[in-house]
Amino acid sequence: LEILRTWRHLFFASPSWRRRLSPARRGRSSRRITTTRRARRRCRQSSSSSARPSSRSPGWAPRSSGCTSTTASSTYGCDGSILLDDTEDMVGEKTSQANNMSVRGFGVIDAIKTAVNTACLGNVVSCADILAVAARDSIVLGGSSYDVLLGRRDATTASMDDADNSIPNPFMDQPELLANFQSQGLSLRDLVVLSGAHTLGYSRCVFYRDRLYNETGSLDPTYAAALDERCPPAGDDEALASLDDTPTTVDTDYYQGITQGRALLHTDQQLYLGDGGDSDALVQYYAESPDKFWEDFGAAMLKLGGLSPLTGEDGEVREDCRVVNRG
Ligand code: HEM
Repeated sequence: LEILRTWRHLFFASPSWRRRLSPARRGRSSRRITTTRRARRRCRQSSSSSARPSSRSPGWAPRSSGCTSTTASSTYGCDGSILLDDTEDMVGEKTSQANNMSVRGFGVIDAIKTAVNTACLGNVVSCADILAVAARDSIVLGGSSYDVLLGRRDATTASMDDADNSIPNPFMDQPELLANFQSQGLSLRDLVVLSGAHTLGYSRCVFYRDRLYNETGSLDPTYAAALDERCPPAGDDEALASLDDTPTTVDTDYYQGITQGRALLHTDQQLYLGDGGDSDALVQYYAESPDKFWEDFGAAMLKLGGLSPLTGEDGEVREDCRVVNRG
């Protein structure tokens, strides 16, 4: 889940996090990852600069991906920057508003990197590609899949400030969310379908308290009463609640919940305002069409994973996903 979640961290938007991370203001109003032999072949075709595009392995152009967040350069893309630890010269993205105590599981990536380097007999697969495949496989576990193109290279820097200023926060209204996605060439459909990743996992109270106590109009009362017990108006910031009714199952319950006022996050409910708009229609569509959800989710991940990848001589293939290579 943590790895899948890193995908959100491609994004951009206003940093109104701190303002909203306060107590409630008022009372309640397919394909499996490659086999070893295939993996070796992939290793040769992957991220090292010697691996050049071929007709069989389009050099860049991820068929989708798992992504990380921003780099300090002007590009924002799937470059593994989120994996970098802070250094004396750089505060990275792990402690940004969106990521701090939220994005975890870095040890899993470390373990995969070690295993991949062993299988590949060297350091040829980038951390960014590993993240992309691992993210895809967190969904495969739910019974569906999509293709992932490989060939990304890793960023050599990261920026907490960029992450703070870029990643969408859970207090945005629909127009802000849409503008955030559109600024990266993503559409309303992409926004709605990618948010379906919230079919998995949980949120801390600090992110849904504001909705719980200030948005009674759009909250199912029974649902709200259950949340009340977990998340008081102040304190218990870490109390978890699931993002949909089936947090360990990959399904379309997330969309069904939204149409019934059972969205946990403000941003999730913003996708279904009940005004008969395009976003409402998309939520309804995915709620009723699991197959279409999977098809479009894969296509959106393809787009997301293809945003500004580092390729060719740009970036590097990190030896250790947490630090840039020396020299
Ligand atoms: C549209 C903007 C989005 C916002 C505002 C948002 C916000 C959030 C928040 C606040 C949490 C809870 C974090 C915590 O409590 O620590 C969360 C969890 C999660 N998000 Fe998103 N998210 C967005 C889009 C996405 C996308 C595009 C993906 C993946 C494609 C994604 C995947 C996840 C997953 C898997 C979790 C559960 C993590 C866990 O249980 O540990 N989110 N999101």
